[in-house]
Amino acid sequence: MSGSRITALGHYQPSRVLTNTELEGMVDTNDAWIRQRTGIATRRIAGDGESVTDLASAAAGKALAASGLEPADIGLVTVATCSAVDRCPSTAAQVAAHLGIPSAVCFDLNNGCAGFCTALACADHTVRAGAARHALVIGAEKMSDVTDWMDRSSCILLGDGAGAAVISAAEQGDAGIGPVTWGSDPTRAQAVRLAGAWQPRFAQEGQAVFRWATTELPAVAREACLRAGITPADLGGVVTHQANLRIIESLTRQLGLRDDVVIARDVVESGNTSAASVPLALSKLSERGELPSGTPVLIFAFGGGLSWAGQVVTCP
Ligand code: UT7
Repeated sequence: MSGSRITALGHYQPSRVLTNTELEGMVDTNDAWIRQRTGIATRRIAGDGESVTDLASAAAGKALAASGLEPADIGLVTVATCSAVDRCPSTAAQVAAHLGIPSAVCFDLNNGCAGFCTALACADHTVRAGAARHALVIGAEKMSDVTDWMDRSSCILLGDGAGAAVISAAEQGDAGIGPVTWGSDPTRAQAVRLAGAWQPRFAQEGQAVFRWATTELPAVAREACLRAGITPADLGGVVTHQANLRIIESLTRQLGLRDDVVIARDVVESGNTSAASVPLALSKLSERGELPSGTPVLIFAFGGGLSWAGQVVTCP
């Protein structure tokens, strides 16, 4: 096969909405600071009994149903996550069990917030190599499990959710997943952390990551377009990692986009859902009809590592 394309999307968010006003009662913060510094107004928080597997399965089930494929058609399931609790079986294997996918290769992938775009590239490469024909690629996080609810600098940022894509082999000319641009800067590995065996908690050097994302990543995002054979002006949509509205505005401003390009701003209602943020935002825009089928969209994510990954995809 000469490539693959996304044929269906799905997403899931827990019903519980946590507002900035509620956070004012939990830590020394206020709605004005959170909105001005991050753009975030609300985030979704999973219930005690709701696991990363539950979030992932709900999103993946929707994508699979929308694809029209049977569970037995899926040859690969991968879940990008850094907040899953179980080491074995993998979240992907648990999702396969939930959805009745009988014989797929299943594995989790942790590349922090860049996880979904990384997993999508791995699945695309697998399909290109002929090792699977259809794959389920999921980003799922229960960040509320790894949030320090006493730390005002991070607890206001994070949220729970999942997004999923079904990808299928495609002939030359019909492929819809462009070459990936990915990499990492391990000299800044400690700038985003979720470390420790006992109760790991998310922490980051916020200003350093902000500077890195807004100064070094626009060139990388342009490179992803170049590798797809287009320029940013050809894009119909841009879905970056949803960490901070100010980063999204700065990054997209530097790309030279058309005025009518659709830019994902799901961070406002969902907060930072790490590896789930890109597929969640993409699926929501697609479901609302804001990214019609055939739209070229740059998806691009960055975070712990510090790492990045992105590619141009055609909207299903
Ligand atoms: O997803 C992984 C990748 N991560 C990112 O992309 C995150 C990148 N960084 C950011 O988005 C921003 O740096 C943050 C949103 C995390 C923080 O915004 P900032 O504008 O960089 O704020 P800051 O950390 O420099 O803090 C400014 C002030 C400090 O007070 P002083 O020292 O100036 O008196 C903080 O203590 O704001 C204070 N502050 C708060 N005040 C009210 C920190 N958190 C809060 C809060 N409410 N929640």
